[in-house]
Amino acid sequence: MSVPVTMRQIAERAEVSIGTVSHVINGTAKVREKLRIRVVEAIRNLGYQPSQLARGLRRNQTSMLGMIIPDVTNPFFPAVVRGVEDVAYKRSFRVILCNTDNDPHKETSYFNELRSYRPAGLLVIPAAESHIAVQLRSLATSGPPVVCIDRRPTGWDGDVVVVANDAGSYAATRYLLRMGHRNLAVITGPLHLANAVERLKGFRRALDEARVSIEPEYIQEARFDRTSGYHAALRLLRMLPRPTAIFACNDLMALGVLLAARELNVSCPEELSIVGFDNLDFTEFTAPALTTVHQSGYQLGATAARLLVERIDGLKERPKKLVLPIELKIRHSSSPPVARAAANGRGKRYSPSTSVR
Ligand code: RIB
Repeated sequence: MSVPVTMRQIAERAEVSIGTVSHVINGTAKVREKLRIRVVEAIRNLGYQPSQLARGLRRNQTSMLGMIIPDVTNPFFPAVVRGVEDVAYKRSFRVILCNTDNDPHKETSYFNELRSYRPAGLLVIPAAESHIAVQLRSLATSGPPVVCIDRRPTGWDGDVVVVANDAGSYAATRYLLRMGHRNLAVITGPLHLANAVERLKGFRRALDEARVSIEPEYIQEARFDRTSGYHAALRLLRMLPRPTAIFACNDLMALGVLLAARELNVSCPEELSIVGFDNLDFTEFTAPALTTVHQSGYQLGATAARLLVERIDGLKERPKKLVLPIELKIRHSSSPPVARAAANGRGKRYSPSTSVR
């Protein structure tokens, strides 16, 4: 294995000081052009490779950004990562990605390991049942800056970038109500996650505004994935009266609803309208194409990375909560209810008069 080239060797070859070589390599000061050219020539001729490890030890900080995401199999998160990476690359930061699979223990382990790499900053999308707020608070005085994305960990009040979750659910639910649906059901994400709580709030707000009440069983908590959405939909579609519309608080759960409806021979949208949240690419190609709430994962990531870089550059303002817009995308999985859809179905009968909000 070849012996690493040192800055001293470059300085001797270029006939400049070691300080000048360091300034050229690290961009820490302006160097006269003719000296800079001699240093660059010497680096190329000697085949010098700067050591990130050595640089990190000297500065007690590397040019890395640590990023923690909860579920790499959900296509929403790679879009967020892409937004982060594009911003980071332009500023010569490199991203280390950790996927927690929504396991809080794995999240804690990754968090502690990332800290040991002396990152310039951290981007965190908390896992379900996350307790990372405790660790994040420990960084408040001495650690790298942190920006949370998509959901704020309970008990943490630092920088966060989210979308207008409440407004998105409100728009989806109001759209269904205005089409005439009254037996609406909702499948939420895990209700200890802020974004899941906000989406349920928007759903309830639209119902309250329309003075529509639903059975408590029409609110099903799931886990933001296709399987839990499928099982929640099977429960809902076996109720009587069967819901004529299901709002799933993310597209993976909406996919599960489509699968359950197909399995129970419930036609969409004729007998069941389905609305999702995220507007993932596949939603244009489901049968029928999914009506959903658009949120830009890419913009969430890019906005969070820009805020983090500002913090790394020394921004001292109070913590920020940046809220990105949503947009209802109406496609073919939703239509006005037909009379028979409300009456059909099997299983337990409810008397709507006893319904609660
Ligand atoms: O974590 C699951 C969900 O939260 C994603 O589908 C997206 O909606 C995000 O906000």
